[in-house]
Amino acid sequence: MKKILITGGAGFIGSHLVRLFVKKYPDYKIINLDKLTYAGNLANLKDIENEPNYEFVKGDIVDEKFIHQLFVDYKFDGVIHLAAESHVDRSITNPTEFIYTNIVGTVNLLNAAKHIWKDNFKDKLFYHVSTDEVYGSLGNEGFFVETTAYDPHSPYSASKASSDHLVRAYHDTFGLPIVISNCSNNYGGYQFPEKLIPLFINNIQNNKPLPVYGKGENVRDWLYVDDHANAIDVIYHNGKIGDTYNIGGNNEWKNIDLIKVLCKTVDKLIGREEGTSERLITYVKDRAGHDLRYAIDSSKLQKELGWKPSLQFEEGIEETVAWYLNNEEWLKNVTSGDYLKYYEKQYDKR
Ligand code: NAD
Ligand code: TYD
Repeated sequence: MKKILITGGAGFIGSHLVRLFVKKYPDYKIINLDKLTYAGNLANLKDIENEPNYEFVKGDIVDEKFIHQLFVDYKFDGVIHLAAESHVDRSITNPTEFIYTNIVGTVNLLNAAKHIWKDNFKDKLFYHVSTDEVYGSLGNEGFFVETTAYDPHSPYSASKASSDHLVRAYHDTFGLPIVISNCSNNYGGYQFPEKLIPLFINNIQNNKPLPVYGKGENVRDWLYVDDHANAIDVIYHNGKIGDTYNIGGNNEWKNIDLIKVLCKTVDKLIGREEGTSERLITYVKDRAGHDLRYAIDSSKLQKELGWKPSLQFEEGIEETVAWYLNNEEWLKNVTSGDYLKYYEKQYDKR
């Protein structure tokens, strides 16, 4: 039985990926390693927690000795590394945590994989999941391709860029079999409600202000989270060792236009007059170093490995809004910690 370590499997994208792999590959043993920070929640995996090919391990990738021992004990055949501090605003208020988890944590995993795989790299793979934010910001034209030079601006994207470089360096220097993907913004169920889409759905429902940074003209390219998970599956199994693949939805939205769609959709689903929630839109101080536009060219992945996004945005966003409205218990559960205090403090500062 192949043993695959998925790190950060209790988070947003990780939980969708763990679910996909556990269900699709009964012959793989999936080990989910997660520290369960504010962003990680085992409630995200309730439906598969008793599957025989699934195991959860609580632990911190920054703990070098623990990671080393884990690899010695389990002798993983593959690693899909998602564990990270992932929120740009938090990286502005507390960059250090991002350096430890995103950079030091990644190096600990690389060292442990290199150690146990030693001379036998056959059929082994270290897959590093990354973001398009490493490429920096686009103007009104153009797309990020795999060869776009790195130009990160936030502590979050700088820490992810650093980890990408280290993963590539372990391939070039030690021959470690690696693959990297850089994906655009994801949306879907189980996303922690500090990111734009779940935060705004929750605020609209509860008649709270919608804090739009700057003029709301920044553009993001949104991809449904299960399409990201499917892309990771395709790349894990068929990607070329040492290569990078961009993943994106070809689905650009100006923040303010997306926010209006959210208002309309929530209004419709809760029986409020459509569009009236736009009155909650509140322009606030812009995010420091706010990247203007991200847009991904995923033609390499589409042409070489045959992946394509499955969901139309209109369909995906309605499904996502409905998911949050129908999962109030989940929302209460994940926000019962320090999150609300953190968020309200940030909001007061603006
Ligand atoms: P998330 O914040 O929802 O989840 C991160 C998970 O990592 C959580 O379960 C958390 O508990 C765990 N974790 C954090 N620090 C840890 C540590 N020190 N040791 C072990 N576990 C730890 O993040 P996400 O949005 O699911 O993103 C997952 C990955 O995908 C990240 O690497 C992120 O950079 C990348 N990514 C995210 C997006 C996006 O739109 N969300 C887009 C592209 C790439
Ligand atoms: P976010 O979901 O934090 O993702 P990222 O910064 O990684 O792209 O933010 C998406 C966009 O929405 C980004 O341009 C910042 C903006 N935004 C707001 O305007 N208000 C908010 O409260 C949040 C969280 C984000």
